[in-house]
Amino acid sequence: MTSARDFLSRQTRESDENLRVEATDDGVIIELLQPPDRLEFRHSYVETAFFKRAQQSRQALLKACNNRQRSIHSILDLTGGWGMDSFILAQHGQRVTMIEYDRLVYSISSHSLECARSIRRSATAAGRIETIHANALQFLQNLDKKDPFDCIYLDPMFPAHHSSAKPAKEMQILQYLTSNENIEDCFDLALLKAGNRVVVKRPAKAPTLTDLSPDLVIREKTIRFDVYLTQGC
Ligand SMILES: C[S@@+](CC[C@H](N)C(=O)[O-])C[C@H]1O[C@@H](n2cnc3c(N)ncnc32)[C@H](O)[C@@H]1O
Repeated sequence: MTSARDFLSRQTRESDENLRVEATDDGVIIELLQPPDRLEFRHSYVETAFFKRAQQSRQALLKACNNRQRSIHSILDLTGGWGMDSFILAQHGQRVTMIEYDRLVYSISSHSLECARSIRRSATAAGRIETIHANALQFLQNLDKKDPFDCIYLDPMFPAHHSSAKPAKEMQILQYLTSNENIEDCFDLALLKAGNRVVVKRPAKAPTLTDLSPDLVIREKTIRFDVYLTQGC
């Protein structure tokens, strides 16, 4: 099987001419030319600013994906992306299975995770994350209901028209590379398969993902987490 690093080294030669991808010893450098802009993003779980952020315990994401009894231990992240949310959850003790359908994005996150596993301060958290290259809907359809994930997490790409401000460059690159696939179907199926809850990240003022109202809403300044409690709670 091709390793994430091998796959990425081929991308540097074969990808479209606006994109440059370079695997390094602690992550991946991604450069996207979108004239007049040149977007560069250093993807790494051990980069100081991100690592510090991952350690903060008072985060809405952690509150949304936990309960008072602290009985949530396994999380299925259906929209893995750059894996930042998965890493934050793993840093705080959760076992996370992260699904990403786009091969390049999956390989970037997988390579950065391999790097993080080999660095002492990030090894424990990175070791709690499993990455799977798959479409989330197919993965959910094949999931055995007898051994459910306690929490299923969805962070679909935010609607482009939501705000006039440009998103952060890592999100602009992700928007260039990927899109939302079967998100509402994933949400409906997740409600049937999650042991305790389904959590959906949304822009602070956006409507809910579907007509269903959440049981809990945990807010931050620009985003919120809609929490749907399921039959297991
Ligand atoms: C907004 S990003 C998630 C960002 C992520 N939470 C993070 O912390 O980096 C959404 C991601 O979901 C992925 N995605 C969308 N639909 C999917 C599907 N059906 N199966 C797997 N991945 C999907 C996209 O490719 C994209 O990478």
